[in-house]
Amino acid sequence: MDTLATAQPLATSAILLVGGFGTRLQPLTFQTPKPMLRVAGIPFTEHQIAKARAAGIKEIVLATSYMAEVFEPYFGDGTRFGIKISYALEEKALGTGGAIANAAKLLEHDGPVVIFNGDVLSSHDLKAQIALHRSQGADVTLHLTEVADARAFGVVEMEGERILSFREKMENPPTNIINAGCYVFSRSAIDAIPSERVVSVEREIFPELISRGAKLLGYVDTAYWLDIGTPAALLKATVDLISGSAQSIAFDELLAGGTYYENEGCLIARTAELDPTATIESGSLISNHVKVAAGARLSGSIIGEGARIGTEVRLSNTFVAPQSEIPSGFIAQNQFFGFSE
Ligand code: GTP
Repeated sequence: MDTLATAQPLATSAILLVGGFGTRLQPLTFQTPKPMLRVAGIPFTEHQIAKARAAGIKEIVLATSYMAEVFEPYFGDGTRFGIKISYALEEKALGTGGAIANAAKLLEHDGPVVIFNGDVLSSHDLKAQIALHRSQGADVTLHLTEVADARAFGVVEMEGERILSFREKMENPPTNIINAGCYVFSRSAIDAIPSERVVSVEREIFPELISRGAKLLGYVDTAYWLDIGTPAALLKATVDLISGSAQSIAFDELLAGGTYYENEGCLIARTAELDPTATIESGSLISNHVKVAAGARLSGSIIGEGARIGTEVRLSNTFVAPQSEIPSGFIAQNQFFGFSE
């Protein structure tokens, strides 16, 4: 019998890091913080909250900074999402580590804490990651995944399940196993993070914990994983959810609710008005109250609420902001419309 697993408390608390500037997603993030951008019809954060709830998390603190004021009106106290939600505000962004230390003050439960980067779509088995943490009595257990090119990520070296080194973004990474942005922290590891100052968990805390001999474990798997931090990745996330190559409980619930329907790999709001001669294809998302006129062809594009698309418009891999108007005959590829500073 695994005695440690039963001795360690359950993980019922989580912190979601949603305070970054999302610079790689500008201009989309000028008016909406990255975690509130819609992926497959709902704010990205909602996908992660549903994932946390399904893994047994009862309370979650959103660590906010950039455009902090937009989260609470949508998520409230969490009743609607079946989880207790509270909000930790950083007047000035504290970095990923500082954000964790600051948000942890609001947690009411004891036991390990699950930390989510607010920009990762992952189908990994969070319960299994938590179980590994508990059974091994780890200080921190990181979800890790393998990528073809690791240069833009935090890279680890391992022996068995143990992480021997952690290095953030480097030119010649020693392995292709990277930080997938979801951690289980024991309370003592959280208490070791300095509070009230800017701290990066990736650049400072992980290397320091390793050098002090702390037990950092890796939960490595091959499940679907995507950093949604660039426009191309954001489009891909919606396409992958619609096609079923990525999974999300929140997306399943959205479809079950009947406000959107799937058609030929696209997601379309029931309130949208599509001319019968318009073509919607390749994972496009048509939001509520959008109007698409005759002969328009939209491919791999995300059309924000209330936008109007004129006749014979051609859009490919393009984002259209809510309430924008695309004039008839317009042709565009890889563009953004209506996202001003
Ligand atoms: P880029 O500017 O495009 O790199 O995006 P980003 O600002 O989101 O930074 P990054 O992708 O490195 O951040 C990883 C996660 O941590 C994201 O979910 C961010 O929202 C979050 N994050 C980054 N810095 C902070 C911070 O200072 N405070 C809080 N609360 N969250 C942060």
